[in-house]
Amino acid sequence: MADFSSMGQMTGYFAPTRFEADVYDCEVVGRIPHDLSGVFIRLHHDWFYPPLFPDDTALSADGYITSLRFRNGSVDYRGRYIRTERYEQQRAARRSLYGYYRNPFSDDPSVRDPDHPGRRTSANTTPVVIAGRLFATKEEGLPYELDPNSLETLGAVDFDGAWKSQTFTAHPKRDPFTGETFAFGYEASGLTSKDVFVYTFDRQGKITREVRCEVPYTTMMHDMSITAKYIVIPGGGCVTDLNRLYLGKPHWGWDSTKPSYFLVVPRDGSGADYRVFYGAERSIVHTLNAYDEGGEIVLDLPTASGNTWPFFEDVHGKPFVMHQNTIRRVHIDVESASSEVREEELFNIPVTSFTRIDERYFTRPNRYTFVQFADREKPFQGRLPDDPRAQPNNSYGRFDLIERKFVSFFAGEAHVVQEPVFIPRNETSQEGDGYLMGTVHNLADLRTEVVILDASEMTEVARIILPFRNSPQIHGIWASEQELPLL
Ligand SMILES: [Fe+2]
Repeated sequence: MADFSSMGQMTGYFAPTRFEADVYDCEVVGRIPHDLSGVFIRLHHDWFYPPLFPDDTALSADGYITSLRFRNGSVDYRGRYIRTERYEQQRAARRSLYGYYRNPFSDDPSVRDPDHPGRRTSANTTPVVIAGRLFATKEEGLPYELDPNSLETLGAVDFDGAWKSQTFTAHPKRDPFTGETFAFGYEASGLTSKDVFVYTFDRQGKITREVRCEVPYTTMMHDMSITAKYIVIPGGGCVTDLNRLYLGKPHWGWDSTKPSYFLVVPRDGSGADYRVFYGAERSIVHTLNAYDEGGEIVLDLPTASGNTWPFFEDVHGKPFVMHQNTIRRVHIDVESASSEVREEELFNIPVTSFTRIDERYFTRPNRYTFVQFADREKPFQGRLPDDPRAQPNNSYGRFDLIERKFVSFFAGEAHVVQEPVFIPRNETSQEGDGYLMGTVHNLADLRTEVVILDASEMTEVARIILPFRNSPQIHGIWASEQELPLL
C-alpha cells in the first residue's frame, strides 16, 4: 500500500509521481535547434512507497531515470524506475523494506544484510557514460547498467570482477584528451571503512589500474576532479561509525571539529605515493574543475564553511545553521612538505553545490561555470518544502572566471531550476559556445519544463513542456550519438 498522507513534505509539486511514461514528439515552445542531436538523461528521486521511517531523507528514495532524445528539431521523452534489487523487493512486498539512508541495521529483517551494504543501493544519483555504456550510479553501491534507448535496467555491474570496491562514486571523470575515465569507491571494503579504491578505465572501458588508499577518517567523498597528472578526491565534516549505525541513526553525523581533506593520487606511479592534504571545516559535495599550475593543483569548487545537511545532526549537539556555498579556489602544493591547502573565494554570490562547465575543459583551465541560484530580486510565487535547504532557485547563472562577470537567466515566477548541462555547439566550437539545457519545475501548473538557452547569450531558445510532473532531479548529462549507441 502506498499511503503518503502522513508525509508532510511530499505534497503538491513534490509528491511522488509513481508512474512510467513515454511521450512521443513533445510539446515545445520556440524551436529546438536542428544541430542538437543526442540525449539529455536525468536521474530523479521518486519514492515508490513511503519510506520505512518518515524522517528519512530523499537521498534514500528510488532512482527514476528519464531521457529526452533530440533529433531533427524534435524531442521524445521516456521515464522509467531503476529496477534495483531494492526496488524489486519492495515492489514484491508492496511496501518499503529498507530503512535509513545507508544504515542497513535499520532495514526490515527480511532484507537486512550489513555485510553487503552496497546491495541496498537505489542507484538514484547520476547517469554516467563509460565507453558507450550507460549506468545509474550512487556512491553507496555498484552502478546499474541500463539500455540507453529503452531505459531497461540490465543489472548491477562490477566490470568483469575487476572493480573490487563495494561502492562506486556517482561522479567518475573522463579525461577529454586521453579518453581515460577515473572513478573510485569509498567505504570500499565495507561499512564505515577508511578504504578508498581508485580506478582507471581505458577508452575501451577496461579497468587498467587500481590504487588502494586509506583516508584519515571516513567521510562523505561525493565527487572527484582530475588534472593531467593527478586525481583529487575531497571530503570532510561528515562522520560515521558502526556504533551510530547500530543505534539506528542515519549514516552521517556532522563533526565541526574535523578538517576537510583532499586525497591526491598521481595518475602514474606506484600507487603508494598518494597524499592527503587538509583544509578548514568545510562542506564539500561537488567539484567544478581542476588543473596543474606550476607545482600546484588548482581545484575550483562550490563549498561552504560549515554543515549544509540539516538531517545530519551535529555530533556535539550544536543546533543546525544553514551554510551557503560559494565558488572557491583551493591550491594544493603537491611539491611542498606542508599538507595544508590554501583557499580563496572567487565569487561571493551564494549558489547551490551543483555547478557545470564545458567538460571538454576538464584537466585544463576553464573560463565559464554554469550554476543554478536564487535571484531574490525577482518575484517568486511558488511554495517550497519546509526545508532549510529549499531556496527559490529561479535562475541559471554563468560565471566568467577571467573577467569575473556574472550573467543570469530567470526561468519564471513559479519556477525552480535544477542542475543544467552544457552542450557544445560542435566539437571545435569555442568554450561556452553552445547550449545550456536544464529541467525547470513549474510549481504553478504542476508540470516539468526543460529550457534550452543559448549559452553565450543566456537567452531562451526553446522550452519543452511535459504534460506532468517529474520528481526532483539530482544530476543530468548530455550524451551525443558518438558517446552512446542511440536509436
Ligand atoms: Fe552529486
